[in-house]
Amino acid sequence: MTTTLRAAILGTGAVAHLHAEALAELDGVTLVAAADPSEERVRDFNARHGVPAGYATLEELLASEDVDVVHVCTPPAGHAGQTRAAFDAGAHAIVEKPPALSLAEVDEMQQAADRAGRQFAVVFQQRTGTAAKHIRELLSSGELGRPLTAVCHTHWYRGSEYYDVPWRGTWESEGGGTTLSHGIHQIDLLAYLLGDWASVSGQLFRLDRDVETEDTSCGVVVFESGAVASVLTTVLAPRESSLIRIDTEHATIELEHLYGHNHASWKVTPARHIDAGQSAGWALPDIEVPSGHAALLGEVYAALLSGSDVPAVAAAPTRAIEIVAALYASAGRGAPVQRAELTDPKFRGGMRVPVTDLRPSR
Ligand SMILES: NC(=O)c1ccc[n+]([C@@H]2O[C@H](COP(=O)([O-])OP(=O)(O)OC[C@H]3O[C@@H](n4cnc5c(N)ncnc54)[C@H](O)[C@@H]3O)[C@@H](O)[C@H]2O)c1
Repeated sequence: MTTTLRAAILGTGAVAHLHAEALAELDGVTLVAAADPSEERVRDFNARHGVPAGYATLEELLASEDVDVVHVCTPPAGHAGQTRAAFDAGAHAIVEKPPALSLAEVDEMQQAADRAGRQFAVVFQQRTGTAAKHIRELLSSGELGRPLTAVCHTHWYRGSEYYDVPWRGTWESEGGGTTLSHGIHQIDLLAYLLGDWASVSGQLFRLDRDVETEDTSCGVVVFESGAVASVLTTVLAPRESSLIRIDTEHATIELEHLYGHNHASWKVTPARHIDAGQSAGWALPDIEVPSGHAALLGEVYAALLSGSDVPAVAAAPTRAIEIVAALYASAGRGAPVQRAELTDPKFRGGMRVPVTDLRPSR
């Protein structure tokens, strides 16, 4: 007998469309309902994606529908409570980045998933695609030697009007600034490639935008392998790009893209001492899957349908948020934060710290 999972989408704003479009291409899942307090938005969303039922709240949706999976596509301040409610109702949850506003919230979400025996998947879609998988395997197998230095830059552009949306730009509702909301994608991918981190130092700046949080940050992440990464995030870059560069003993890996990557976005340059025969084995696979929501949801639903745990591309919800939390904490105290220190509740409750304001007085 074939199983079809019944999915619902909570929050029918911008990112929800990527979820609906990806679900439409997948076997074994049907999108049965959506919920959003904006009646107009949920109506338009349902009409566009052929979703049969619309609700104003998650509570109404869960009371009326038998749902296997809830996609949490709401502003981040709601993620923790909504995800816990989905688990408590017996559904799996697929939660947009950032999964929550603090490490304590992510802990509670994971505990609720474990209690309910349900799966907790996060959407950091930069991890996905055949290129990232291949490069990760080359790094973890030792084929490229020890990773030494890395660059992780998010040069994005968000004009002042971007912050007109009420939930953006405040500690209360966004939880942090561009580091938590944008840089976290590349930071997550870097950590997916390089593994556990050891320490983070960082600084936060407000250079131009009229926000409570930061519009730019700089950090240094030291990984347990000994690799050292420079991490810069900004929403003030007229030419936008997302960059990762990793120099290992035997190769330089470069990725340049914007919001998603394919094989052409990656370049691996062997060191002079590597012979052509060895580096030929590093070539990306012939079959190409670009990064994106479709790739991530495809893997997550394959796991859910087979009763397996969340696959690596959607697991480990705390990894990126730990690095981001440590960057904020370091900026707050003016000194590096070691990974072991993050067990201290004072680092797990939220990101809010003073930001250095370098805007000309206006
Ligand atoms: N993975 C990505 O590439 C990506 C891209 C954009 C946004 N995001 C993330 O997705 C989330 C949503 O971002 P967005 O850009 O779609 O925001 P958005 O403002 O466009 O949409 C959010 C929607 O959630 C609705 N909403 C608010 N509270 C709700 C509630 N309690 N119940 C149900 N619906 C509610 C709003 O009415 C709105 O329609 C954020 O966490 C954001 O960081 C991820």
